[in-house]
Amino acid sequence: MAKHERFGFASAGELLEKAAALGVDFALGDDLAPLAKPVRVGARIAPNSLAALPMEGCDCEPDGSPSELAERRYLRFAGGGAGLLWWEACAVVEEGRANPLQMMLTAGNAKSFEALLAKANRAAGDAMGGGHRPIHILQLTHSGRYSRPRGHRPMPVIPQHDPILDPLVGLGGGEPVVTDAYLDELPGRYAESARLARDAGFDGVDIKACHRYLVSELLASRVRDGRYGGNFENRTRLLAEAVKAVRQATGPDFVIACRFNIFDAHPYPYGFGEGRDDFMDFDADEPLRLVRLLRDAGVGLLSNTAGNPYYIYPQVTRPFDASSQGIPVPDEHPLESVARLFGFTRAVQRAAGGAPVVGNGYSWLRQFAPLAGAANLAAGDCGFVGFGRGSFAYPDAPRDILLSGGMDPKKCCVACSKCTQIMRDHGRTGCVVRDAGVYGPLFREARAEAAARAAQAV
Ligand SMILES: Cc1cc2nc3c(=O)[nH]c(=O)nc-3n(C[C@H](O)[C@H](O)[C@H](O)COP(=O)(O)O)c2cc1C
Ligand code: SF4
Repeated sequence: MAKHERFGFASAGELLEKAAALGVDFALGDDLAPLAKPVRVGARIAPNSLAALPMEGCDCEPDGSPSELAERRYLRFAGGGAGLLWWEACAVVEEGRANPLQMMLTAGNAKSFEALLAKANRAAGDAMGGGHRPIHILQLTHSGRYSRPRGHRPMPVIPQHDPILDPLVGLGGGEPVVTDAYLDELPGRYAESARLARDAGFDGVDIKACHRYLVSELLASRVRDGRYGGNFENRTRLLAEAVKAVRQATGPDFVIACRFNIFDAHPYPYGFGEGRDDFMDFDADEPLRLVRLLRDAGVGLLSNTAGNPYYIYPQVTRPFDASSQGIPVPDEHPLESVARLFGFTRAVQRAAGGAPVVGNGYSWLRQFAPLAGAANLAAGDCGFVGFGRGSFAYPDAPRDILLSGGMDPKKCCVACSKCTQIMRDHGRTGCVVRDAGVYGPLFREARAEAAARAAQAV
């Protein structure tokens, strides 16, 4: 691994030179046409190959319905012109919310989602013209170990104990793990949320299985006893049952998606996709078995991600220039982190049996991201090019790429981790740099409140 460096490339040539010096598999296209191509997702067609990845704002109303800030986010995403909007984490049960303002779709608030979807589709059509209408996927989640449904104290729901992660959420190792009976009930909750999502106008739902939330941690629950732990079949049981239940509840045409961790970067036996001797080595065996399982179960859209954003290797999830508080600067170049994510997407796309896979890791590349995305699409290494932080910072990027031929460097995400810092401080998040009028004050407020809580705790 090479030394970490901040982004400082003035041209595509410089970026390619660096990739060659690092010896990473990385290409840039010279034709953006692949990004404009419509993509079939089951019975739906996305009008182009650009996607907004799920980006949680931690800012909904207490009942889970979209607040003014959340509405603003989705209208900006929709007006930005992406062909696929992958909506943020939306809890299927109250106790599985990652924060008290996490999105949650219920029978009581479904009308507000329906109204926002209608507005978002109007904004998309107005911005892009013609019949432009993005595909909308809602990410359904249970936050498991990272549940914090009330106040500032974690209320973890854990499938197994983990000597590294337990102390981070205040666990000592003797607490009960979640029961099989509790897990047996969850597919029904996913199905109910999916039915509400379909009726509100979503094209599909994602059974979220990433970032070490409940379903993700279950994939790695080798030391758990019972029907949800131990062997691969048991560890994938909840995900497989949730897919089945959602399909039964929503019918054949509704898109079932899955955003999953292909690699946890967490030591054996507590991680998924890791080498036994070195947890930073990738072992593709189980992750690709999972892709085949999902494909055979009728999952029609995939997105691989990796890592645990709550732990000390967030570059595995999102390559960055500056880290958030308490996170060490990694011992690898961000371009190596980007290439790792691209390699994962390539492997999943090869195994996905025609289902499009949404690639990620593009935001750090700034204005060169469309060239990298075009190269990956042209090579068949992904089905969509997704932007996470880039969508917060520069929601209009898809429109600029498709209609003006590129991204404005002055509007790009600078991978500063301030949006993550707000999340860690329990605030409402967005881009502190490019949307500073709204999120500058919220960043400062969240920092001050976190400092006051820390002082009180001392
Ligand atoms: C503030 C913030 C919120 C996020 N929210 C979600 C989320 O709700 N669901 C999810 O799967 N990933 C979430 N992510 C991860 C992103 O979707 C994405 O995988 C990651 O940022 C890497 O892509 P990028 O390099 O384009 O930012 C979030 C990331 C950040 C920084
Ligand atoms: S605060 Fe803005 S510029 Fe910084 S990482 Fe987040 S989206 Fe990017």
